[in-house]
Amino acid sequence: MSAVVVVGAQWGDEGKGKVIDFLSEQADVVVRHQGGNNAGHTVVVNDQEFKLHLVPSGILYPDTLCVIANGVVIDPKVLLEELAYLNNRGVDTRRLRISSKAHVVMPYHAKLDAVNEDRRGDQKIGTTLRGIGPAYMDKAARVGIRIGDLLHPEEFRERLARVLEEKNHILSRAYGVEPFAFDDLYTTFLDYGQALKPYVADTAIIINDAIDRGERVLFEGAQGTMLDIDHGTYPFVTSSHPSAGGASIGAGVGPTKIDRVYGVAKAYTTRVGDGPFPTELTDAVGDDIRERGHEYGTTTGRARRVGWLDAVVLRHAVRINGLSGLAVTRLDVLDGLKELKIATAYEYEGRPLTEFPDSAWVFRDAQPVYETLPGWDESIGTIRRLEDLPTNAKNYLKRIEAVVGVPVVLVSVGRERSSTIPLRELF
Ligand code: IMP
Repeated sequence: MSAVVVVGAQWGDEGKGKVIDFLSEQADVVVRHQGGNNAGHTVVVNDQEFKLHLVPSGILYPDTLCVIANGVVIDPKVLLEELAYLNNRGVDTRRLRISSKAHVVMPYHAKLDAVNEDRRGDQKIGTTLRGIGPAYMDKAARVGIRIGDLLHPEEFRERLARVLEEKNHILSRAYGVEPFAFDDLYTTFLDYGQALKPYVADTAIIINDAIDRGERVLFEGAQGTMLDIDHGTYPFVTSSHPSAGGASIGAGVGPTKIDRVYGVAKAYTTRVGDGPFPTELTDAVGDDIRERGHEYGTTTGRARRVGWLDAVVLRHAVRINGLSGLAVTRLDVLDGLKELKIATAYEYEGRPLTEFPDSAWVFRDAQPVYETLPGWDESIGTIRRLEDLPTNAKNYLKRIEAVVGVPVVLVSVGRERSSTIPLRELF
């Protein structure tokens, strides 16, 4: 196997950082291909915690080539700060490559994100306010600025002048917000371009060549399937394709070159931001899981909404991504719960629904149909072999496999790299 995609199977924050870090050890190249600094990965190495938003966590291994590919939207200030943070902690970042075709998140994008959310009132999406949606809007509207543009002062001047006129018009006329000064933006972003220049490359060539040489290439998805702009819970989604197909477009790699796709799912469900969530727990059990699991966003610090595992969502993720298997994370967070529930279907207007509905209002009003399983008393955080897990934990995993329809290929029982139980060869 040489090309493996890892995606979130729920609403993001599934613990992909941990799983990707584990797989990165065997990878020659690790690629980010969608999203931006709306994502946040926490990786713990030898008790040291690293929080990353844009740079693939593969950077923490000394020989891994890391790529931020064309499908990502990059806030250069955030990226440069992240590189400085890594360098200060002794991490060599010279093995990073950035696509010249990746779009730039500009300050007016963050501003538009904020005023758009404000205007939506109680219909707000609950975005991370990082300007991600407006940056992808400009990409689709063909007025975006790309990383490569920052290296060409004349072309950049022309593109920025044109787009800024329009943005300033909207910001000042529609929202009464202070416009951005051209000169400030122009010089600041030219400087960012110079600082990033050593990293900029045609990354599709680098990635395809690596695959052709038989190297192990890992595509690390950000966010999750349910936040996919096409296949997620629209309109409460992000503006990119966190599902597996996004790796192909977002990195310039044909689908025939991808060998396997793994989905990462928590042993329960969380969601940040607004939108329907049928298995949400608004009671003491939910609060308890949130506290034990430290369920607060890496990027925004927001408290995550918590709920039981939703197998309808996971079956949808299996289908949309063509999952080869599931990595189940945070099983240890469920230690000590008397009973666990899995939603195996929904009920809508008195009728059973076994598949994820294709309309937002059906999903909004769907009621979960639960199966209840016994929990376990033991603390499982130090267990390193499947056979040593309590019987009820093994049964919970078996039941997940049965109701979701793909094998569980890895189980995570803690934050450390070492607290991982791989169940098969993943590459
Ligand atoms: P945006 O990506 O900032 O536009 O936010 C759109 C939706 O995606 C909101 O519900 C966010 O909370 C959610 N979201 C974006 N990035 C992440 C992530 O990395 N993890 C979890 N949710 C995310």
